[in-house]
Amino acid sequence: MNIEGLIRENIKDLQPYSSARDEFKDMSSEMVFIDANENPFNTGLNRYPDPQQSLVKEELSKIKSVSKEQILLGNGSDEVLDLIFRVFCEPKQDAAIALPPTYGMYKVLANTNAVELVNIPLLESFQPNVDTILNAQNKETKLLFLCSPNNPTANSFEAKKVEKLIREFQGIVVIDEAYIDFSTQESWLSRLNEFSNLIVTQTLSKAYGLAGIRLGICYASEEIISILNKIKPPYNVNQLTQEVALKALQNTVKTKEEIAIIISERNQLIIDLENIELVEKVYASDANFLLVKVDDANQRYNQLVKQGIVVRNRSNQILCKNCLRFTVGTKMENEKLIEVLKELK
Ligand SMILES: Cc1ncc(COP(=O)(O)O)c(C=O)c1O
Repeated sequence: MNIEGLIRENIKDLQPYSSARDEFKDMSSEMVFIDANENPFNTGLNRYPDPQQSLVKEELSKIKSVSKEQILLGNGSDEVLDLIFRVFCEPKQDAAIALPPTYGMYKVLANTNAVELVNIPLLESFQPNVDTILNAQNKETKLLFLCSPNNPTANSFEAKKVEKLIREFQGIVVIDEAYIDFSTQESWLSRLNEFSNLIVTQTLSKAYGLAGIRLGICYASEEIISILNKIKPPYNVNQLTQEVALKALQNTVKTKEEIAIIISERNQLIIDLENIELVEKVYASDANFLLVKVDDANQRYNQLVKQGIVVRNRSNQILCKNCLRFTVGTKMENEKLIEVLKELK
């Protein structure tokens, strides 16, 4: 696919900001750095952070078997998704497709960037309606967002459907894999080099337990990454975030243990919820949360809050009538949820 043809004209011609650290990178040597108007007194944080986050990317490159040049990091995946809109969508002209019910930020980011968001609802099975999506595209449709595993439905999209969409969609396909570490499905990263129009996003906010540091990851062809790099703010990933992320990525034992516990807790929670009278359906989950249909979601939501348990009411979303979303908590938290639900009248 001709990716160049999908990029906004003003971005193609854009001269990116060149920071002091872009111009002189060798920070390890015993040199005098008086180039960036920093405070010279060393606190460990008085210098601007590496704008290309080389150490974090090196670690990710090893773990994910993707070259460093195919990685862009952002202030959470939300920033990465925003950069994608800004590179490919001409405001008030271009469009993107999302498949509701899905992650709400696609709509917010489309609105912020004055881009029309075309909604093609998922099928009752929560799978993408492939033919309708492909028929909905025209020359202004630049982006297609596939959230898999999908928030809030918790399922993964069938690989065959996703592949057909990547092959036949005429724009960029963004697969949001925020929850991939909890899934039985393989990440699309392993097939990144097969498709020039594929972007995969991941995050340290979920399985890695680092929502507070804000680190989102974008994987794509070198061509796409180099364009996104042109428009990203120079120091979008701060020093503290880079340090904490690096440590987490260098030792993933704890993360792997926690993922195993969360999955096991999720499976127990499904069994326990299915035995509760007000629960009508627990949807299958490939994520760290469950979509649960209850008798009256608004009433149950308010009752749970009164008992000190905050869940997400997804009732007003298409296909989610009377549905609540429960994040899998600690064993104690999950037991408390079950205990409280059992007592609700
Ligand atoms: C599907 C999906 N993508 C992305 C995000 C946001 O990720 P980050 O914390 O990296 O901005 C979320 C957060 O809930 C999500 O559900």
